[in-house]
Amino acid sequence: MKLKAYTRRTQLIFDIIGAGKVGKTFGKYLSSKGHKIGHVVNSSIDSSIKAVEFIGDGTPSSIDEIGGCDVVLIGVQDDLIRQTFLKIKDKLDNVKAIGQFSGAYPSSIFRECDEMNIGRFSIHPNASFANQEIWQSMENIYFVMDGNERGRKIIRDLFESMNIKFSEIYESNKIFYHIGAVFASNFIVGIQEVSRELYSMAGLDTETAEIISLYLSKQAIENVEKLGVKNALTGPVARGDNNLIEAERMALTDLDPDLGALYGKFAQILKERVIVSEHHKNSSDER
Ligand SMILES: NC(=O)c1ccc[n+]([C@@H]2O[C@H](COP(=O)([O-])OP(=O)(O)OC[C@H]3O[C@@H](n4cnc5c(N)ncnc54)[C@H](OP(=O)(O)O)[C@@H]3O)[C@@H](O)[C@H]2O)c1
Repeated sequence: MKLKAYTRRTQLIFDIIGAGKVGKTFGKYLSSKGHKIGHVVNSSIDSSIKAVEFIGDGTPSSIDEIGGCDVVLIGVQDDLIRQTFLKIKDKLDNVKAIGQFSGAYPSSIFRECDEMNIGRFSIHPNASFANQEIWQSMENIYFVMDGNERGRKIIRDLFESMNIKFSEIYESNKIFYHIGAVFASNFIVGIQEVSRELYSMAGLDTETAEIISLYLSKQAIENVEKLGVKNALTGPVARGDNNLIEAERMALTDLDPDLGALYGKFAQILKERVIVSEHHKNSSDER
């Protein structure tokens, strides 16, 4: 008789230190998937109680009570991760792994775990957790993970059992991963600001400046999605209007040398990375 193959989900117990936007939301998601939440520690007991209410499981606790779980999750602000770990490092008997959610710091922020034979990992969700209802659509978020062997194994098993999308990176590369996110997300915000200031300077009212700059940025992102980076590029650099580019760079430099330098560098990046790589691609296609 052929035995039916099946996967059995292992229930894990998670302690959470720093059940804020990410910690409590991820905790609620874990609980909804049948895992157990143990101690929940925030900087104040009132906040721990509220986090436990939101999660629907767990015990509001002090940091001295941490331990006796399978996994400790540290969801405090990035600058506090290391010092929080050092406070609980000696309470990790029988704990399988400890993890954090930072996009910038790798799991080696818990480096002592290697000699203690404890798994360490960082799991960075590529999403904003401003809206706590995001726990209901966790499967849409792409996570990026690094860790030691034991930590990676725990996360692979956990994420695969919950259908979470994820990639693994080497922790030594994490800084470039984070810079990638800064370019894709934060700098877009800064570029919106500069664009609006320039429109206002040209005499447009604030509302019109907002409408136009948002429309153009959204259209550019949509075109990147539909056509790819190379084919989405329009404007003076794509047309090769080099005299115009130089005139604009000089006008902007008179106004603000930093912005002039930024314009020149961006134009150079478009020429050398976007257009030149398209040229290389076409010539290698022709070969
Ligand atoms: N927010 C996002 O969209 C997002 C996205 C991806 C990754 N991340 C990463 O997720 C991590 C957490 O960020 P977050 O935005 O969730 O932060 P957050 O909302 O500010 O939450 C931080 C939590 O840590 C608690 N806390 C602070 N100091 C503490 C201490 N000494 N002991 C115990 N608990 C303490 C706070 O408690 P109180 O409530 O009592 O102050 C709060 O609940 C960071 O590594 C961040 O980089 C965030």
